[in-house]
Amino acid sequence: MKKMSFDFENSEQQIKSWKILIADDELEMHTITKLVLNNVTFLGKPLEFISTYSGKQTREIIRENPDIALILLDVVMESSTSGLDIVKYIREELGNSLVRIIFRTGMPGNAPEREVINDYDINDYKEKTELTAAKLYTTVIAGLRNYRDLLITRQSERNTEKLMLYFRHVIESMLSGVMVIDSDYNIEIYTHQVLDFISSPVTGDICTMNIFKVLPFFSDYKKEIDEVLANQCRLEKMMIPVGKKIVNLIFCPLKEIGNRVVIRVDDVTALIEKERQLMYLQKLEMVSTLAAGVVHDFNNILGGISGAASLLEFQTERRDDLILMNACDYYENLGLISKAVLKATELSKKLLSLSKDNISEMKCINLADVLVAATNVCKVSLNHSVKIKTIVNCENAKIKGDSNSLEQMLLNLFINASHAMTIMRGDDKSLWGGTLTVTLDYKNADVVSEFGIQTDGGYVLSVADTGVGMSEETKGKIFEPFFSTKKKSDGTGLGLLMVQNIINGHGGFLDIKSQPGVGSEFRIYLPIYEEKSE
Ligand SMILES: Nc1ncnc2c1ncn2[C@@H]1O[C@H](COP(=O)(O)OP(=O)(O)O)[C@@H](O)[C@H]1O
Ligand SMILES: [Mg+2]
Repeated sequence: MKKMSFDFENSEQQIKSWKILIADDELEMHTITKLVLNNVTFLGKPLEFISTYSGKQTREIIRENPDIALILLDVVMESSTSGLDIVKYIREELGNSLVRIIFRTGMPGNAPEREVINDYDINDYKEKTELTAAKLYTTVIAGLRNYRDLLITRQSERNTEKLMLYFRHVIESMLSGVMVIDSDYNIEIYTHQVLDFISSPVTGDICTMNIFKVLPFFSDYKKEIDEVLANQCRLEKMMIPVGKKIVNLIFCPLKEIGNRVVIRVDDVTALIEKERQLMYLQKLEMVSTLAAGVVHDFNNILGGISGAASLLEFQTERRDDLILMNACDYYENLGLISKAVLKATELSKKLLSLSKDNISEMKCINLADVLVAATNVCKVSLNHSVKIKTIVNCENAKIKGDSNSLEQMLLNLFINASHAMTIMRGDDKSLWGGTLTVTLDYKNADVVSEFGIQTDGGYVLSVADTGVGMSEETKGKIFEPFFSTKKKSDGTGLGLLMVQNIINGHGGFLDIKSQPGVGSEFRIYLPIYEEKSE
């Protein structure tokens, strides 16, 4: 986060003069004090005097002027305890702990210095006779300095409170639930969103409560919390089912302030549902594109079947000649029919494989199998002007993944490649054609880590075409939802978004090279499956 500076108000700057209250029933005390302090300034600001002559009047003035900096307070006025009562009134009833109070007494025996200074919240105690002009000056300036320091402290306390409130509002405005727990797993602070994850009723504030009691699903992540506490590392747990919700959990250490863990809970249920719907839409689009290719082949096969069948029909209708009919011809036609039916069945099987549902299941799979399955579908459904070349350099490419979605990812890339070599060249079919080269390779850790994958190594699936290629401008937009340079009937602009999503979900990385007029290559890096991490 960027460091910022806050422009907080500064109460010292707002002060125009230092208000000094002289509370004394002796008129001369007022005159002398003002005479001595005449023209005195403190920090460039003048002193302003207010005079009161009785306890009652003093209380009123103090109540009305909470910004009085210092009081020169006579102990004995209408009663022998007037001054003492006023101190209590100021500190306890008005709650004003800021104003500096200097006792001035003409009768020290009445209110002994030691007792008064111990029992009353005052700042200085002076006998009137001891207060020479110089001493009065020193006492008042020292008192004002003290008042100024308190003002600054108070201001900085207020600014800290404001800052806390500021961050509180920022955090509360997020959709995430955030809380901090201490090393005994007790909740210290939390945002209201956290309450949405509490399944059983809890009475009162959850502050200071044990996280495992309030949010039992965290018991499964005690190991993670302990690890964050011990190693000060950050951990993430994605797609955790909690009741009917799915959440992402992030655990971060709070090193600077004791041993604590910040936990973020993000409800991703709606997001996943939307993604699932988008995935479904995209799949429908992909299947219909592939099916259109298959239909062409299907029609050819059906043509073959009906040709052979009508020949048989023609021959069997002429019963007289039946015996004359060449048995070879008869069986040849039947054979043609069953071959065609077999081919059609094969085709429909491949199409059917696309209709597998979207439920993803991450398990150990062989990328080579996924690649073969996807190319098999393409062989029957892509435009026949496109040659398909498959190069598998590692037969056993184990990754942790979901074959359905990886197949969907490959098919999307294959369709794009095929389009780049056909319809994207224009309507003139004589210009159509090219080679789609699909390669599966192993790359060691050094190569893979360049792409931000931290594993022992990984597999690279390359899908390269000799099609129209992409301009830099197009390349910059291809992952935007609904970006497509194709006719409406040929593309919806969701394919590459889906490809990117699937790769992200597998902790992989996509690298694209493309040159207009030459072709494009999409390379997918996927981390190797490491059994020890299971
Ligand atoms: N292999 C490729 N060669 C050239 N352009 C491509 C290739 N793959 C994708 N594109 C460009 O990226 C755009 C977005 O692709 P995609 O998200 O799959 O949507 P769609 O295929 O529905 O247009 C395409 O419209 C096309 O302009
Ligand atoms: Mg596409």
